Amino acid sequence: MCGIFGCILKEGNAAPLIHSSLKRLEYRGYDSVGIATISDGKMYIKKDSGKIDEVDKIVNLDDMPGNLGIGHTRWATHGAPLKVNSHPHTDCTGEIAVVHNGIIENFMELRAELQNLGHTFVSKTDTEVMPHLIEETLKQNPNLTFQQAVLASLKRIEGSYAFAIISTREPNKIICARNESPLVLGINGKGVFCASDIPAFLEVTNKAVMINNGELVILTADGYEIRRISDNSPVTRDPIKVEWTAEMAVKQGYPHFMIKEIHEQPETLRNTLRIQDHYLDLLATFLDRANEVFLVACGTSYHACLAASYMFSKLAFLPTYPVYASEFLEQCGKSVNIDSTLLAVSQSGETADTIGAVSCAQQRAATVLSLTNVIGSTMTRISRVYIGTQAGPEIGVAATKTFTSQLSVLAQLALKLAKKRGKISQDEIDCLEENLKKMPDDVETIVRTQEEKIKQIAKKYVDSKVFFFLGRGISTATAFEGRLKLMEIAYIPSIAFPAGESKHGPISLIEDGFPVVFICPRDDTHKTVIGNIMEMKARGAHIIAVVEEGDKEIESLADDFIEVPKGIPSILSPIPFAVPLQLLAYYTALEKGYNPDMPRNLAKSVTVK
Ligand code: G6P
Repeated sequence: MCGIFGCILKEGNAAPLIHSSLKRLEYRGYDSVGIATISDGKMYIKKDSGKIDEVDKIVNLDDMPGNLGIGHTRWATHGAPLKVNSHPHTDCTGEIAVVHNGIIENFMELRAELQNLGHTFVSKTDTEVMPHLIEETLKQNPNLTFQQAVLASLKRIEGSYAFAIISTREPNKIICARNESPLVLGINGKGVFCASDIPAFLEVTNKAVMINNGELVILTADGYEIRRISDNSPVTRDPIKVEWTAEMAVKQGYPHFMIKEIHEQPETLRNTLRIQDHYLDLLATFLDRANEVFLVACGTSYHACLAASYMFSKLAFLPTYPVYASEFLEQCGKSVNIDSTLLAVSQSGETADTIGAVSCAQQRAATVLSLTNVIGSTMTRISRVYIGTQAGPEIGVAATKTFTSQLSVLAQLALKLAKKRGKISQDEIDCLEENLKKMPDDVETIVRTQEEKIKQIAKKYVDSKVFFFLGRGISTATAFEGRLKLMEIAYIPSIAFPAGESKHGPISLIEDGFPVVFICPRDDTHKTVIGNIMEMKARGAHIIAVVEEGDKEIESLADDFIEVPKGIPSILSPIPFAVPLQLLAYYTALEKGYNPDMPRNLAKSVTVK
């Protein structure tokens, strides 16, 4: 996730407006910033890594000539947050500048092709192929206009994008295009604007034009023209009036970041499916060679590790040890050695306990691999190899979209390792890959069909003094995560156990009306889970079951049930099954009158041990 903004003003310089608009998009990414403007047929670019204010202090972003320009606030996906990787990116001649939000999936092939044709690349980003592709298209077809060259180049791009592109050849226009990444136009009597989100221009206009997937837009000082990328046919669309306040707009109309981020999961899961195969392959190669693998993390990320331990074991027959990072030194420190591998998982990449565990492993010559949402974080700097979880900035303190992204990446990694080791059949691998691809749609279905119902369940149980969360097998991890969500934002003491273990103590707590949430995918644990439900019911528990659609057996036993789509393989089940639990926690917190975005005593990133 990044933020893009572009504008053409009838009068005055564009840079100050681009700067202030990027500030309002900073919640979409904040590791680097850059602006390009055109004045008197000349391109001006200022960019660097760092937060907008930090970069501005050094380069003075407002001080750039030209009534037209584009800007970018970055959240690194390909290439570390360094000046060279900051947007805008240019072609070899410096005539074309591009800002981009999204992921170009085929950038490696395009880059190799363009390099063979003599293009020089300076960054590690996927974006840089775009200006070079336009340059090459124009070189090979000198009669094409800038717009035609952009259109031809877009047809070669696979992946997601919102682009804003300028060229000194036609210095009076901005060309934008959209596929999957958001793009919206703003207009007022003084100019036209394009942006990732409405808040970017809300201070100057509330007249917006939504751009759809597969559309290209030509902005000039006089207005905008929309065309379909597929056949260049024109599209007519009038502006709408936006009624949001600036604060609402940053949350895109949602009352809290947490619910916005829950709703973003289909998009973020789609992004995880675009991770470059060779990164997964590299990580899988290290895991394959390891004598022992420790999965190390804190909080929600630990629950992703716990789920991953089932994935690695079942798919790749690799036993792994999930360990709380804060316990790593005491529990495993002495046994770590040169043949050990530590896979650290951390949304922020800065959690002190996780970094501490990594340092301990490094001192003992172990191999350190990591998964993090923040490229450029400490974790990425100290790991041998890392993968970004592609969820974009998460602002709600309670992790939601980053959890499901971690799970999706870990599942892909386990599958990669399974292939390497040849432990499961190709049919099984194909089926799991198909299901992973379907996951964004499944999560969309859950949110669309179950949210109202979950609100009612939250209302019904809001006064409960304590909650139980139970699951078997990989659903143990889902239960743990459900408990953590409810406890951390609704402040209801909650207990989670593997369902089988609940008989060995926790069941003594059960009294009439005690709510017990059961995670019930239709997998090998299903029958035993029914037994565990019966045990709880017999003692008066109220059962809230998260089940597969049409699971009549459990639905008839439950007091309340929430449905996820049918046919989810056990190993992937924590992704969709966690979503209702996030919603349950969110609506329970609201019922209790708490602000779910800022739970008391908690911090998003815990940098003390
Ligand atoms: C804090 C946050 C949790 C998070 C945990 C680990 O406790 O409140 O939401 O799961 O840290 O953070 P990390 O950034 O390492 O995933």
